[in-house]
Amino acid sequence: MPEERIIKSNQRVKDHGEVFTPSKVVKLMIRQPEIQDNLNSLESTFLEPSAGEGAFLVEILKQKLHLANSLSSSIDEYNENSLVALSSLYGIELLEDNVERLVMNMFGEYFAEYINVVTKYKVGKNQHVLDSAKVIIQANMVQGNTLTRLNNDGEELLFSEWKMLPISHGVKKVRRLEYTLNSILDKSGPVDSYPETVNEEIDLFSGTDIPEIDPAKIKKTVDSIKYVDVNIVDVYKKLVQ
Ligand SMILES: C[S@@+](CC[C@H](N)C(=O)[O-])C[C@H]1O[C@@H](n2cnc3c(N)ncnc32)[C@H](O)[C@@H]1O
Repeated sequence: MPEERIIKSNQRVKDHGEVFTPSKVVKLMIRQPEIQDNLNSLESTFLEPSAGEGAFLVEILKQKLHLANSLSSSIDEYNENSLVALSSLYGIELLEDNVERLVMNMFGEYFAEYINVVTKYKVGKNQHVLDSAKVIIQANMVQGNTLTRLNNDGEELLFSEWKMLPISHGVKKVRRLEYTLNSILDKSGPVDSYPETVNEEIDLFSGTDIPEIDPAKIKKTVDSIKYVDVNIVDVYKKLVQ
């Protein structure tokens, strides 16, 4: 087995505190009863605010996909349950190369488990399911600074909630709603519009509190996208109202 790499360079450790958690430690930590309780639900959400390459999120995804498998008695049920599980996991990571690896690692885990399950059901791959998984991962794994709540372009961090709607006429749909990290933390609900660019760099060390966005520094606001409610397997279409 190749040795696990826990640091990329001393400089990155110094600059960003980048030390990855070995998988043995991740497994041990995830065994905590409070975490296991939440892992017994497909929809219970997890946010990793310094996600790195996904040491925790990938392991949590693996366990949630096993749950999705055990709750499903057909491939259609697994497709839906596995995407619900995937849509419950969120990550924020500062460094762009780590975000790329994070997205790849999350998709790699989803894909590997998907192949096991289609083999079990003796069916072929459904590209729509895999494309929907990619859309969910891209939306939920966000490049940004958790402390300033901004990304590298000075934009507010934006997340999608994938809200499962009650079954209507035998059809279960998902509603995709957009939130900024600020609107999640201050519980103000989904956003209609959100600030896109701030004029000045925010100095992280200028005060003792987490910096607030000064409305005077906001250049413009962008309307939030209104997505059409669809079956979760169809989120790859990104249908808008
Ligand atoms: C100690 S590592 C842990 C990574 C991962 N959670 C793990 O256990 O392997 C911390 C990670 O947080 C990222 N990071 C540092 N400051 C951050 C910030 N303000 N916002 C988001 N991510 C940050 C670093 O780039 C690094 O990948």
